[in-house]
Amino acid sequence: MSQDIDLNNLPKVEVCFGPDCSDKGSRELAKELKGLGIDSIMGDCRSQCANAPLVLCANQGVVTANIEKVLVKIKQVQTEQA
Ligand code: FES
Repeated sequence: MSQDIDLNNLPKVEVCFGPDCSDKGSRELAKELKGLGIDSIMGDCRSQCANAPLVLCANQGVVTANIEKVLVKIKQVQTEQA
């Protein structure tokens, strides 16, 4: 996998399933993450709709999220925790 993510040490990943983020593909993104072995929880709208889709990794926001941006953030959180 790109970014060398440690799947045994994942931060909490929350994907916004609010209406705007869903329209911008957040639910598909959650499925993509799942396909890589990264479980996420369904989040509620956090008023970042203008920058949808929103993903939180260890409560750090990733706006206009895509798979690559989320993987970079997860790696960053893991590096900070190391
Ligand atoms: S719908 Fe996702 S932040 Fe509002």
